[in-house]
Amino acid sequence: MAKKPLIVGNWKMYLASAEEAKKFASGLRRKLPLYKNIDVSIAPPFTLLSATVAAFKNSAVKVGAQSVSQFLDEKRTGEVSAAMAKASGATFAIVGHSERRAMGETNAVVRAQLMRALEENLSIILCIGETERDHAGAYLSVVTEQLSSALDKLPIIKTGKLVIAYEPVWAIGKSADDAMKGPDLREMSIFIKKTLTEYMERSAALKVPILYGGAVEASNARTLLQEGDVQGLLVGHASAQLDSFIEILKSVSHK
Ligand code: PGA
Repeated sequence: MAKKPLIVGNWKMYLASAEEAKKFASGLRRKLPLYKNIDVSIAPPFTLLSATVAAFKNSAVKVGAQSVSQFLDEKRTGEVSAAMAKASGATFAIVGHSERRAMGETNAVVRAQLMRALEENLSIILCIGETERDHAGAYLSVVTEQLSSALDKLPIIKTGKLVIAYEPVWAIGKSADDAMKGPDLREMSIFIKKTLTEYMERSAALKVPILYGGAVEASNARTLLQEGDVQGLLVGHASAQLDSFIEILKSVSHK
């Protein structure tokens, strides 16, 4: 298992008010001394970015955006730019989440979002993953295409700025039993690392953390990390409740 796994909570639209975010943060902060061997990040909705950043101030928890706009110009009603996310205190941005791809964000859009985030010096969690698994292995080309369109000829991606979150879409939002199995994940993790070496130097590629996401709960978190050879987890529904999120940290930190 990775020395210091990275556990990212993606709050999606689960939390609505600053009060909820603050309550979550103060509860988590009380427990953090127990989990010094884990890196924890939280991605609240845009409306809660500032409040969440403030609530985790002077703690080791990093706070980031769930997405950023692909656009730079201001005439984009309803969009949130990377600069706005950064000004709200975000230190990273998730790009390419499958729930956004499902709303029409193409590989080209994801690439543009990644560029915008990099321009603002935000770290990036690039989400990739196939919608379905076929026996012929076409899912591998889906993943390759997502990686290549995002990373090909990327102007200097500094090591440490990029995290890949592999999230098979068929597992997202399900319960632990439906998550990917460890050995399959290990295979995919090796495949991703190998693909990354085509877009950056081998030594840099090997340092890019790979996360797994999709139906992560306390009951499967540790096994996925151990058997799947991934460096962390991207947690959706189970990160929206403090108790279930802490249960995940507990199971991962267990010696
Ligand atoms: P889930 O979501 O943990 O609810 O499956 C994961 C994600 O979408 O990032």
